[in-house]
Amino acid sequence: MLDVARRLITPSLRSEVPAFMVMDVMAAAARIEEDGGRVIHMEVGQPAAPAPTSAIEAARAALVSGRLGYTETLGIPSLRARIARQYRDSYDIDVDPQRVAVTTGSSAAFILAFLALFESGDRVAVALPGYPPYRHILSALGCKPVLIETTQTTRWAITPDMLLAEHRKAPLKGVLIASPANPTGTMIQVQALRDLVAAAESEGISFISDEIYHGLDYAFPAETAAKLSESAVIINSFSKYFCMTGWRIGWMVLPVALIRSVERLQGNLAISVSALSQIAALAALDGRVEMEAVKHGYEENRRILLAGLPKIGFEKILPVDGAFYLYADVSRFCTDSYEFAKRMLAQTHVAVTPGVDFDPLHGRHFIRLCYAGSPEEMHEALERIGAWLE
Ligand SMILES: Cc1ncc(COP(=O)(O)O)c(C=O)c1O
Repeated sequence: MLDVARRLITPSLRSEVPAFMVMDVMAAAARIEEDGGRVIHMEVGQPAAPAPTSAIEAARAALVSGRLGYTETLGIPSLRARIARQYRDSYDIDVDPQRVAVTTGSSAAFILAFLALFESGDRVAVALPGYPPYRHILSALGCKPVLIETTQTTRWAITPDMLLAEHRKAPLKGVLIASPANPTGTMIQVQALRDLVAAAESEGISFISDEIYHGLDYAFPAETAAKLSESAVIINSFSKYFCMTGWRIGWMVLPVALIRSVERLQGNLAISVSALSQIAALAALDGRVEMEAVKHGYEENRRILLAGLPKIGFEKILPVDGAFYLYADVSRFCTDSYEFAKRMLAQTHVAVTPGVDFDPLHGRHFIRLCYAGSPEEMHEALERIGAWLE
């Protein structure tokens, strides 16, 4: 019977996307905690702080009031309008609320953007190192992720030359970038972003900008690609700056030509986004004062790590411009950062992510540290790792 079922049900090839290796680290950390150990979690990219109080109160009131139904497919109009207003407040540009699509986190926005823009077989450029789901979602949808290797020389950013060189090999249909970036925490300067958008658009390459870490910029203010082009697809989320990972809510700013396609796709794929999360997100946008205090905590953590890591032997770290990540070269200590991260966890109870998740080619030389915890945890992590390496 089981054999018959096995023969009948074969997972599709497209579903064979790689799992995150960080899951192994998380599972090992959970085992240590079950045995009473205290793990410092620097492996998972999420804020330790809760959502803004305004969001939690709005959600509580919505629950008490009772019925939560489907909403308009592209989002509650007041939320779309409020997000549009945010572009005026933060970036000094006018965005038509009709161009805003509320999504189930930025994760759903990637699926919608790729489906709306690309045909199966299309080549889409993404940076290495980079957030793994970009390439995995593209593959699952039948597109071809084109991995552009970046280095510290360009602060891990794709340059127009790199993009056009790939395009000359075989035409690209899209390029996706993130600034601030995961895993490196580096950002693209405004002029470099402008040049990249112009290079892409001059060749008819669609530009997708993942702006999920906007708001978490320390070195210089992040610029939105929405200001540089009305054809760019902007993807953002309440997960990081607003500490709302579990609420699963994000948004896109769409070129006018894609609004109806995304509406049809989202209507079919999801009907609408969770009403409760939309109500909370609308209120979250009034919680900036609280979130700025959280951001100052990350800044303090960044300062502690940038001062402390070189002292314990991690000298090769790039400028950490934004987000809450730091990508450290550990080739001085090991040839395989996966094994290194495993040993570090077992012996120091500090959990970090091996670079192989973000870069199958060179990631074994790197680890990513997430500094979204408390300053006390940063000091303690430095002590524990320093003592271990001695
Ligand atoms: C660069 C980047 N983009 C997108 C996401 C997905 O976030 P969400 O779906 O919670 O909005 C993450 C999550 O870590 C990320 O690091």
